[in-house]
Parts: sequence; C-alpha cells; structure tokens
Amino acid sequence: MTKDTIYRDILLEHARHPKNSGRLKNPELSATVKNPLCGDELEMTLALSGELIKDCRTIVRGCSICQASASIMSEMIIKKSLKEAIKTGRLFDENLREDNEDVSEMVEPLRPFLVLKSHRSRIKCMKLAWDALEKCAHQDKSKTQT
Ligand code: FES
Repeated sequence: MTKDTIYRDILLEHARHPKNSGRLKNPELSATVKNPLCGDELEMTLALSGELIKDCRTIVRGCSICQASASIMSEMIIKKSLKEAIKTGRLFDENLREDNEDVSEMVEPLRPFLVLKSHRSRIKCMKLAWDALEKCAHQDKSKTQT
C-alpha cells in the first residue's frame, strides 16, 4: 500500500465518519465561514475552560476534503490551548504555501492534505475549518496574542 493510498483512506474515513460533528449548546465561541469559491459553509462551536479548548463541534455543508479537514482539526485542537490551536492552523497554512516537504510535528496529522496541495482550487476546502477557528479566536483576541 502506497503512502498516497494510506493518506486517501484516512481522508475518506474522516469524510464518511466525521469526528465531533454537530453544534454545542451555549458555546463560548462560534463562527460560520463560507468558501467563496463554491458557496459551501462550515459552522464551528467551541467550549473553553480558561485558555483550553474543552470541546469543538462542526457542521459542514461542503465537500469531503472540507469535512475531513474539520474532523481531523477537531481531534487535534481539543485539549489544546486556543493559542496553540491557532499556531497549528498558521503552520498548516505556511506548509500549504511552501514547497518544503518537511513539516513540524505539530502539523503531522495534516500530512494527508499536504500531498494534495498542488490542487490549488482545493486549498480553501482544506483551510475552511481553520478559518473558522481564526474567526472564533478574533472574538477572543486577548487569548491569541502572540
Ligand atoms: Fe466547497 Fe470544498 S468544494 S468546500
């Protein structure tokens, strides 16, 4: 089995059985973002405990890449600080824009997306969940200043 097949299977599994799907009641932070290229939408709700992300739920009306991205992201950010989660998203963004194959340990779970980065039209699909996280953090700027 090639690495590409393994990565594809990981994405398919998350797209078919997304983790942390849904909407939290009384979230501390929430945001809805739209992919301007296709009109698809993603809603994120976050529960915080101080600096820490206690829980994260997403509702995705988008393609399977977008769904898989939201699912993997939710697993990565729960129990992280909001600041750390934002840093991960920004590193992912850098990795999507650079040619460099090296990725930090922080973004390792996102490697299945990085092999797809030559498909430039899908970058926004991969990034939509992280954009929602940024939008949430903007409501809580004091916790994300670096
Ligand atoms: Fe709409 Fe991917 S095609 S989010």
